[in-house]
Amino acid sequence: MDKIAIDAVLNRIEETTGQNANPRIAAIVHRMVRDLFYLIEDLDIQPEEFWAGLNYLAEAGRNGELGLIAPGLGFDHFLDLRMDEAEARAGINGGTPRTIEGPLYVAGAPVAQGEARLDDGTDDGEVLVMEGQVFDGAGKPLRDAKVEVWHANSMGNYSYFDPTQSAFNLRRTIVTDSEGRYRLRSIVPVGYSVPPGGATDRLLKKLDRHGTRPAHIHFFVSAPGHRKLTTQINIDGDPYLWDDFAFATREGLVPPVTRVEDAAAMQALGVGKPFSLIRFDFTLHADNASVPQAEVARQRAAAAA
Ligand code: DHB
Ligand code: FE
Repeated sequence: MDKIAIDAVLNRIEETTGQNANPRIAAIVHRMVRDLFYLIEDLDIQPEEFWAGLNYLAEAGRNGELGLIAPGLGFDHFLDLRMDEAEARAGINGGTPRTIEGPLYVAGAPVAQGEARLDDGTDDGEVLVMEGQVFDGAGKPLRDAKVEVWHANSMGNYSYFDPTQSAFNLRRTIVTDSEGRYRLRSIVPVGYSVPPGGATDRLLKKLDRHGTRPAHIHFFVSAPGHRKLTTQINIDGDPYLWDDFAFATREGLVPPVTRVEDAAAMQALGVGKPFSLIRFDFTLHADNASVPQAEVARQRAAAAA
């Protein structure tokens, strides 16, 4: 169809919008329908392709996979880059880089003061100690900051979504001490892969892509008067480090991993084998009214601690 005919039908559809429409929703829907009409026209989408696409999205929704498709197609990372740009325009620079939340956070994890052990002792992956401080933009340690941490086990699976793991395994909230310090003991995670045969996996295969993330650890770091930080660190050396299906690896989020083989250090930790040590500090920005808040409301899983 030519543009005049397409715009005529689009206008007829848009004109049905009532006076009490939500203007934001109406603007988004009109734009989306317009862009999709032109996509159908330009790519000569056939009816069977249209219905296959609709049914694909319906299935992905039923199976809870839309939250996996979004990062896989780069939407989560794009939203991060837009938030970075909004902050830069407001004069907010530096600090710990943000990166995507992903769909696997669970609210309600046990709270610990200063330090916590995250694993339940059943995973005999490599022991990991991770420690550091939370600072404000001026380099002052933030006491009573909340470090929410979650990661996959040595099979690449997350508790709650993997019902074989104990409740809140590899998930904690650690409150920093008087010097802004946090410390955790856990096991080194392995990269997550999207469920085999699921909607995300099938789509990625059509694109000749994999659905694997490099090994990573998620964080929400928050303190009163400061912008909430959503980020991850990556485990250096992972073969997928710069080939993340969710595009979340960023400079500044790949700390060195030290292998500790010193007998006294092993004994102090109560482990009879070498372990990995990561030091990583977080720097938060002060609240700033001239930029959208960094905390993002979205539907999340929650469980009782
Ligand atoms: C996905 C999984 C993750 O562990 C993550 O951090 C981000 C995205 C996903 O399944 O899309
Ligand atoms: Fe993850």
